[in-house]
Amino acid sequence: MELVIQPDAERAAWLVASLVAKALRQKPHLVLGLATGRTMEQVYRQLVRMHRDEGLDFSLCRTFNLDEYIGLRTDHPGSYRYYMDHHFFNHINIDSRNTFLPDGMATNLQAACRRYEETILEFGGIDLQLLGIGADGHIGFNEPLSALYSRTRDKALTPSTIAVNSTLFKHPGEMPKRAITMGVGTILDARTIILLVSGKAKAEILAKAVEGPITAMVSASALQLHSKCRVVVDEDAAVKLQAQDYYRWIFENEPDWEEFRNAPPSPEVLPL
Ligand code: F6R
Repeated sequence: MELVIQPDAERAAWLVASLVAKALRQKPHLVLGLATGRTMEQVYRQLVRMHRDEGLDFSLCRTFNLDEYIGLRTDHPGSYRYYMDHHFFNHINIDSRNTFLPDGMATNLQAACRRYEETILEFGGIDLQLLGIGADGHIGFNEPLSALYSRTRDKALTPSTIAVNSTLFKHPGEMPKRAITMGVGTILDARTIILLVSGKAKAEILAKAVEGPITAMVSASALQLHSKCRVVVDEDAAVKLQAQDYYRWIFENEPDWEEFRNAPPSPEVLPL
């Protein structure tokens, strides 16, 4: 695991988008694992800007989202399909047939979960998985005690996740209490992983996830087992980290980061 600290959330999102863009330019058929949530919105804005201004080409890219609510139609504004179309897919040149999310409306959820895993494999597995982290340490919707080997499955959400995410619904009571999520094991199968964390509210859980013990109580701590996981955080999220000096030193000195050190002073964010 490698962790770098950026001055603010905008710069952190710009860095993550730049890492995705680099991977896509190197491999146009990239299989990209995607997350939703507030943190990711700025990453998608940056990627849309890169598509518009720099010709970043998504025409051959395939995407698999981490999760989807159970029982919401894809045209419901709270669904993750709607989020992805609205924040990202509608603004880039991706073929919608190459964008996959779990089927939260399936009558047979177990079969839909198995099929999702099979489809990921048919496309050769995920090259690069983007992740955010929940206040309870979840990645995807792998709530506390999710098995570290778990696969795509239906899962009950915690009251805290429901409280946080229901604010994104026009009628908070409409938020489903269950979701389909890739498992921790599914996520760990990705060839590379980038976790993006910003804001003071995430400082404590970030420190637990990256510097604490590996435990099913904090699903994100399983990322310590992955050999190619990068964690990009802003100053606010970094305040509880013990080895901040080392993480800053890495970004300033390691050759892999050199091309990203001179970021545009204020990475432009497009309103969508
Ligand atoms: C969403 C997902 C979740 C979010 C996490 C953080 O697809 O997988 O794990 O990444 O809940 O959400 P925000 O960014 O809204 O704090």
